Amino acid sequence: MLSIKNISKSFAGNVVLKDISMEIVPESIVGIAGPSGGGKSTLLRCIQGLNTVDSGQILCDSKIGFMFQDFQLFPHMTVWQNILYAAKLEKNKSIYELEELAHGLLKKLDIESLVERYPGNLSGGQKQRVALARSLMLQPDLLLCDEPTSGLDIATMGEVVDLLKSVCSKQTAMIIASHDLDFLTRIADRIFLIKNGQIIAHMVVKDLKDPIGYLRTLYGKS
Ligand SMILES: Nc1ncnc2c1ncn2[C@@H]1O[C@H](COP(=O)(O)OP(=O)(O)OP(=O)(O)O)[C@@H](O)[C@H]1O
Ligand SMILES: [Mg+2]
Repeated sequence: MLSIKNISKSFAGNVVLKDISMEIVPESIVGIAGPSGGGKSTLLRCIQGLNTVDSGQILCDSKIGFMFQDFQLFPHMTVWQNILYAAKLEKNKSIYELEELAHGLLKKLDIESLVERYPGNLSGGQKQRVALARSLMLQPDLLLCDEPTSGLDIATMGEVVDLLKSVCSKQTAMIIASHDLDFLTRIADRIFLIKNGQIIAHMVVKDLKDPIGYLRTLYGKS
């Protein structure tokens, strides 16, 4: 569904991604870990086509949804308008079908009572649910999530794990970028560690006794 082959990316001579390759198969949840500035968001943006790559190839036959690090909700639109806006632009479903889909997602995410509110009046967790509903309106096969737990407390972090697992259909693959190792090891099947733009480790979470400890050791090494 997604094949990344030897991609590299620089911004004004500053190399941000170096020779990154990975394969994402359907139904998998892949974590991208790594320190701040390591290139996680840039990699997701390249996959989505928001950034171009300098070399290498990204082959993707999936419909991609993107949940941004800072949510990027439209401040002048209500929750309901935010959720429907992009889906309406796609013009491949009737407004009736879209509204039905939106109601289902609002219910699942327990945010039905927020439809008339504006993003400025929502808590971080509520904004996140709205952002998730908006990306799921496009019924993606591949959901890219950038730091879905940033700014949330520990209890809510557990909720995000449950939420993502319950709300995405089993067929939806996910790539989740996060520096939160506890979160990533709870949700992901595989984790890539990206540091200074390079993949320095790739692990299958269930194969490791102490995946967090292992990742922490690698964080420390250059
Ligand atoms: N549009 C841009 N122009 C110039 N430099 C950029 C641009 N986007 C990202 N960078 C740089 O690329 C590097 C990687 O940034 P990126 O946002 O991908 O890191 P990250 O791993 O997502 O970090 P964080 O954990 O803080 O979100 C940083 O040094 C950043 O300043
Ligand atoms: Mg980032």
